[in-house]
Amino acid sequence: MKNKIKLFVLSFVLLLLSSSNIFAAGDAEAQLYAVMKWMIGITILLVLLVLWLALVYSEKNDLTGQIFLAPLVRFKNFMTKTTPIEDEEKILMAHEYDGIRELDNKIPPWFSILFYGTIVFGIIYMINFHIIGSGNVQAEEYQQEIQAAQLQREILIRTGAFINEETVKMETNDAALLSGKDIFMKNCAACHAQNGGGLVGPNLTDEYWINGGGIVNVFKVIKYGVPQKGMISWESQLSPKEIQEVASYILTLQGTNPSGGKPPEGEKWEEPNSEQSELDQS
Ligand code: HEC
Repeated sequence: MKNKIKLFVLSFVLLLLSSSNIFAAGDAEAQLYAVMKWMIGITILLVLLVLWLALVYSEKNDLTGQIFLAPLVRFKNFMTKTTPIEDEEKILMAHEYDGIRELDNKIPPWFSILFYGTIVFGIIYMINFHIIGSGNVQAEEYQQEIQAAQLQREILIRTGAFINEETVKMETNDAALLSGKDIFMKNCAACHAQNGGGLVGPNLTDEYWINGGGIVNVFKVIKYGVPQKGMISWESQLSPKEIQEVASYILTLQGTNPSGGKPPEGEKWEEPNSEQSELDQS
């Protein structure tokens, strides 16, 4: 019985150790999981210990530790070691007030262990965090997380994850427009013609737009489509960056007036508040 319990506790601790990579450098998430696993494990162990101690104190008949409490009874006796009552005569102090006398008891080991334990912990902590610097104090951890987040943000910006109808901008650099043309030829030319003059879909080279012109409206139409009219939503097939590129490419076709282009559909588009419309008004 005793051995079985020892075995159980031992295998539990081994399991915790082996399945944990708390000491390995990994990404933040893995480390968090490792720490959580440790905290849960330690909590379970503490709960077991408290239950066991409760048993030790309740099982008055087993104070000699005949059954399974022997190691714990020994542990408890060690931790709470005091001078036995029959020897108290020896540690009785000389002074006396109103018949009250004082015992010169030793500090109980559990208290000393805790006390010295904090000192040892403090020294290890001091060396680790402030002398060798192999551990990160909170301020450093914070800085590292900020740095990691900034890196992630840069990647997101570069891949265009932040591009949407609020932030979309007309691309002007050649590489982006070339990529936009490529996307157009592959996905859109079937309905809008290679030159953008229109087939099933409307002419994209004139100033007339069914759904509004300008980069924002064009971006929106490509992203969400007009499904009931045969223009599908490209959101699931093109990345936001690709949609921005193809939308920009389409707008470079303005005024190319390709031969065989469809007649204009929709309304003539004037860019609101643009420099051009301001000029027109004056
Ligand atoms: C299956 C045919 C088809 C394909 C493929 C297609 N479109 Fe369209 N597109 C249409 C139709 C039809 C309309 C007209 C929708 C309407 O009447 O509102 C349209 C409308 C548009 C408009 C708005 C025109 C306006 O006047 O408001 C844009 C911009 C556009 N398409 C871009 C694209 C791009 C970019 C692609 C490729 C990624 C693409 N389309 C692929 C059929 C298509």
